[in-house]
Amino acid sequence: MVKVIYIAADGTRTEIDAPEGESVMRVALANDVEGIVGECGGAMMCATCHCYVEPDWAGRTGERVSGEEDMLEGAASEVTQYSRLSCQIPLTGALDGLVVRLPEDQI
Ligand code: FES
Repeated sequence: MVKVIYIAADGTRTEIDAPEGESVMRVALANDVEGIVGECGGAMMCATCHCYVEPDWAGRTGERVSGEEDMLEGAASEVTQYSRLSCQIPLTGALDGLVVRLPEDQI
């Protein structure tokens, strides 16, 4: 299992132990984490799974995948260098303890 820590825009912190291979988006939806919508189900067609990877973790979550940048342009909240589509972050053992912050708005 891999621990993922979600911090909502209001500071609410949710820690979840998730199976490897799941995406940060799917784990949030499966556990009713508020702040991730995931409207397209992970097909990279919506940007409602926008999250900010904590700077300490950014090197481990990898680069944005092809097409992610374009989709982030439609995100409802500010996009920063730490912005990612959480459906494009698969959980691996190297991400145990990953911290992501959630934007105020997804739509
Ligand atoms: S869930 Fe739609 S882009 Fe991630």
